[in-house]
Amino acid sequence: MPDRRPLIAGNWKMHHDHFAAIQLTQKLSYLLDRDDYDAVDVVLCPPFTDLRSVQTTLESDRIPMALGAQNCHWEDQGAFTGEVSPAMLAKLNVRYVIAGHSERRQLFGETDDVVNRKVRAVLAHGMTPILCVGETLEEKEAGATAARVDGQVRAGLAGVARDSVAGMVIAYEPIWAIGTGRNATPDDAQATIAAVRATVREVAGDAAASAVRIQYGGSVKPGNIASLMEQPDIDGALVGGASLDADEFARIVRYR
Ligand code: 13P
Repeated sequence: MPDRRPLIAGNWKMHHDHFAAIQLTQKLSYLLDRDDYDAVDVVLCPPFTDLRSVQTTLESDRIPMALGAQNCHWEDQGAFTGEVSPAMLAKLNVRYVIAGHSERRQLFGETDDVVNRKVRAVLAHGMTPILCVGETLEEKEAGATAARVDGQVRAGLAGVARDSVAGMVIAYEPIWAIGTGRNATPDDAQATIAAVRATVREVAGDAAASAVRIQYGGSVKPGNIASLMEQPDIDGALVGGASLDADEFARIVRYR
């Protein structure tokens, strides 16, 4: 059985200014202890304007949580008004970058091709992409979940070296479960995540498939995290709403 360290990431989405971000980071650091960090990789993904503040809070207080970003452009620099480059994120010691969150795909028109460019750019700057995949309610009801997710994984990983795939994170986030309080059952999440791993095996080989960490996301709460984490293929969670509150997020990190 490969050693895949559980990874629990909080995606704050467009919540919390930098003052609130510092407070939340500090409060979390009071709630979590060495045993938690030994057991789980904890990642905070605040909005861009908070990254520098959260970075300095983590580094000056030596808090062993990693910094993540919610998005980036794929070019290093240029005339792309309003965009943030992976090089800029790397300079802030950002370690993880979410690529292709369903909100980016649905609300901001990100295609599989754009998501793939972002994945490759994040890797090129030594950071870890969190590649998000997931089906809509219509696709789920039409029995198209497996095909949808398989296509997103193949497109997202196109042109990525096998070794790089091994170090990546993939987040399976069924769109109908995001922010709805309706989560996939642990069995359903396990089945789809096992299928994602099978796709990774086909495109990147056995070693990458057993090493890649695959998270579940969609209404993860303190009350359902343990049953999700019990599943053999679920290696962590990408948490939205419940990551905005220090007590709730700490309880999720301490699911054991
Ligand atoms: P919720 O946990 O609020 O459902 O959000 C999930 C998500 O989109 C995390 O990226």
